[in-house]
Amino acid sequence: MCGIVGYVGSRRLVPVVLGGLKRLEYRGYDSAGIVFLQDGKLEKYRSEGKLQNLEKHMEDALSAPSHIGLGHTRWATHGAPTTANAHPHSDCTGELVVVHNGIIENYHSLRNELIEKGHTFASETDTEVLAHLIEEYLDDDLRAAVTKALTRVEGSYALGVLWTGMPDTLIAARNHSPLVLGIHEEEGGFMASDIPPLLPYTDQVIFLDDEELAVLKADSHTIYSLKTGKEVGKEVKTISWNAAMAEKGGYRHFMLKEIYEQPQAIIDTVSGRINPETGSVDLPEMNLSDDDLQNIDRIFLVACGTSWHAALVAKYWIERWAGIPVEVDIASEFRYRKLLINERVLTVAISQSGETADTLAGIRLAKDLGSKIVTICNVVGSTMTREAHGTVYTHAGPEIGVASTKAFTSQLAALFLFTLFLAERKGTMAQDQRLLLGKELIHLAKVIEEILPSLQEEIKELIEKFYDSRDFLFVGRGLNFPIALEGALKLKEISYIHAEGYASGELKHGPIALIDKDMPIVGLTPKDAVYQKSISNVEEIKARQGRLILIGTEGDGQLKTITDDILYLPEVHEELNPILYTIPAQLLAYEIAYRRGCDVDQPRNLAKSVTVE
Ligand code: AGP
Repeated sequence: MCGIVGYVGSRRLVPVVLGGLKRLEYRGYDSAGIVFLQDGKLEKYRSEGKLQNLEKHMEDALSAPSHIGLGHTRWATHGAPTTANAHPHSDCTGELVVVHNGIIENYHSLRNELIEKGHTFASETDTEVLAHLIEEYLDDDLRAAVTKALTRVEGSYALGVLWTGMPDTLIAARNHSPLVLGIHEEEGGFMASDIPPLLPYTDQVIFLDDEELAVLKADSHTIYSLKTGKEVGKEVKTISWNAAMAEKGGYRHFMLKEIYEQPQAIIDTVSGRINPETGSVDLPEMNLSDDDLQNIDRIFLVACGTSWHAALVAKYWIERWAGIPVEVDIASEFRYRKLLINERVLTVAISQSGETADTLAGIRLAKDLGSKIVTICNVVGSTMTREAHGTVYTHAGPEIGVASTKAFTSQLAALFLFTLFLAERKGTMAQDQRLLLGKELIHLAKVIEEILPSLQEEIKELIEKFYDSRDFLFVGRGLNFPIALEGALKLKEISYIHAEGYASGELKHGPIALIDKDMPIVGLTPKDAVYQKSISNVEEIKARQGRLILIGTEGDGQLKTITDDILYLPEVHEELNPILYTIPAQLLAYEIAYRRGCDVDQPRNLAKSVTVE
């Protein structure tokens, strides 16, 4: 939801900020802008549409001798995605500029108040009130003016501010929207909404917390509490990701690269966490004592989108193997319902980014009600990991494609480990079973690695018959029902084909009415405990002339009697089928979207990290 980059230091400004915005474009891509200070004047460039429009517009500015400035890539909340609404936004003098990610909830009343005081507005955005509000309080101390202005603001912000009156200083501030500083002794200071823009320059970062403000200069950074005005000591963290991890590495799209990175992501998530001799699972960052665990009588899993699908799979695993009742909630629903949560409930937030606004709000509520909070998260130091009692990190590396792929399968791997961990501590799973399942998980990564290239080729051919369909259904049972939901989500978000996922047994209760000779239906039919039931369901579809694509177990001849369009997958332990069956669903969506000429990595209307409600 909007990406911010700021830099002050010895490098030329424009390439640093443009490069940084490219690495943040997944956060929003409907318009973009850059501002820099040169010869005491602010030079502002803004363009509608994708970043490449701004890039073209800035060709002559690439070598501008400027060393301080800000950039922004937008996902519109208030005001259409036009150049006038693109950030940076200025005050009335044009000498102060602001970039912002978040929502100023009381912007309407502030705007009216400022108009009455004589300010003139040039955009429809909520952000512009910030520029005028700071102007209102500004004499010669920018920090004091920003601090005062922010006491008037309700809502969320990550903010970058630059003023000609303090030409060596950037101000950064945060409340409920992510912002991280990058520090390099010789090259200066960086700010960004996420880590990738910092990776080419530094691995030393400081995560701002809510209600903090940073004064950033080329050779110093000082962080203050917005509440007390006092300086706060912050830990500088070292990031283990590197710049190459945020590049396409020869693949056509980030999404495809990330699909292919899944075997490694699973191995990295699992390694060092299962003892190969005893099958014992160690998750030390989770910070749960044996007493905490004995105390738990219910688990709430809270997440959004794809991460919610991971939660749905985990419910089957945890209830079956650890015997603990699990409730799964969409975070935007969870946060507004009556929560029957107390200190005997463990709340687990699942989030790739660790910044999703609804999930974050959910864990704050659960924490207030006495629940212990654990996150399953991919981004070290993200807000959720800082607010939770503990974390199980997925080690998927940066995920740039808007459609979540490797983050999902590594969430599943982490949740599987979490299940084994609970089962071990609760004594609900025999050691040999744990050892077997641990080994099977590692084996699965190898299986996926082996099948990926040929599966992609098969799918490329298969989709020729289906890519121009208007609708799609995905059906699965048991552990694979959430994968049907995930397959449908992947397809709709990147190809814009209307797609729905259903539990196979639900078809008869309504959706079967949709089936005719034009409707493609992807049926997940592995040889598992509910295989015969699934087959009966797809037979019912066949009887109504649905165009079935079955994904099933190698050697299963029965599938050939139902349809010609089959993708066979190797047999793995059936508990792990949800991870394996995700792979063809992702590739199907990817190939169809590519065949339809869609922008796979940056689908319309979406942004990777949803940091507003
Ligand atoms: C899925 O492809 C989407 N990117 C989206 O549903 C995503 O999973 C959701 O917004 C949650 O994000 P999070 O995991 O970062 O919290």
